[in-house]
Amino acid sequence: TMSIEVMEEKVLEIKAKLGKKLFILGHHYQKDEVIKFADATGDSLKLAQISAQNKDAESIVFCGVHFMAETADILSNDDQVVLLPDMRAGCSMADMADMNQTERCWNVLQEVFGDTVLPLTYVNSTAAIKAFVGRNGGATVTSSNAKKMLEWAFTQKERILFLPDQHLGRNTAFDLGIPLEQMAVWDPINHCFEFEGDIREVKIILWKGHCSVHENFTVENIRHLRETKPDMNIIVHPECPFETVEASDFAGSTSYIIHKIEHAPAGSQWAIGTEMNLVQRIIHQHQDKEIVSLNPHLCPCMTMNRIDLPHLLWSLEMIEKGETAQQIKVPTDIANDATLALNRMLERA
Ligand code: 13P
Ligand code: SF4
Repeated sequence: TMSIEVMEEKVLEIKAKLGKKLFILGHHYQKDEVIKFADATGDSLKLAQISAQNKDAESIVFCGVHFMAETADILSNDDQVVLLPDMRAGCSMADMADMNQTERCWNVLQEVFGDTVLPLTYVNSTAAIKAFVGRNGGATVTSSNAKKMLEWAFTQKERILFLPDQHLGRNTAFDLGIPLEQMAVWDPINHCFEFEGDIREVKIILWKGHCSVHENFTVENIRHLRETKPDMNIIVHPECPFETVEASDFAGSTSYIIHKIEHAPAGSQWAIGTEMNLVQRIIHQHQDKEIVSLNPHLCPCMTMNRIDLPHLLWSLEMIEKGETAQQIKVPTDIANDATLALNRMLERA
């Protein structure tokens, strides 16, 4: 096996050789060994915007997860190739909504509510779900524009179906002043509502999906910190459960979290509720502040972590050889409909 130094040298060599023909994108949750080679890093929104703007690169290597690479492929030109260094880098949340389940749910919603429902989907969803949403007049959202997009959605229709993250949906809707009593949950496994009350009062239907990383930040973690470290500021990602977000001091996307800590005074104390690689990077970059993970057992995203230095090198070698083994290619009909949903967001983001 190759040493880290040799692999790093080879990555730099191929990057130098391909120049502007190659563009490496890295999501904030990626490992340091990968992120150090990224030409641009960002949250989901920024990476989507960059994919839509970059017209120079022939190959875009997406260090992130499958749905992000799909989005990059949809937003890039036809002759640009998007590669995912490890095809197994999926997202358990995106996998919680498939087309079959979504169509069954949609049929019920049409029966119950008639033509009063607009679908919105978190970008953490498959291209097929984005296409379904686009065909039905809806849009994608990211964690940094969910509030703005939900506000827009309510100018279009009376009710919203929010896929696939119930937590982001609930946290955002509550932020907009919608009471919990007007939120129903749709259970796609048992194909039924989880709701008590008059269904006609419902304003938002939350798909019963979640992020397995962010569900690990609990009110118990917060209670413990408030008791032991009362001066800690608690900042979490809105994929965390409602109770956690309510009990914390700040909530926002990965970019928001980074920005907030960057602008905090030296000596301030922070507990962060998000993925481990990002938390550790922030701790390392801000040694003048006292920063910990909100959950003392660091929470990794297993699929983000599949992208490592060997996989990055392997994908660059593929490009060098002119092979497209790890290419992500969304079928044209799906891409066209998904573009409608993505553009409705990008126009407003
Ligand atoms: P953001 O980059 O929008 O904060 O999303 C976090 C996430 O879970 C990506 O999978
Ligand atoms: Fe999916 Fe959660 Fe991992 Fe993001 S952190 S890729 S939402 S499992």
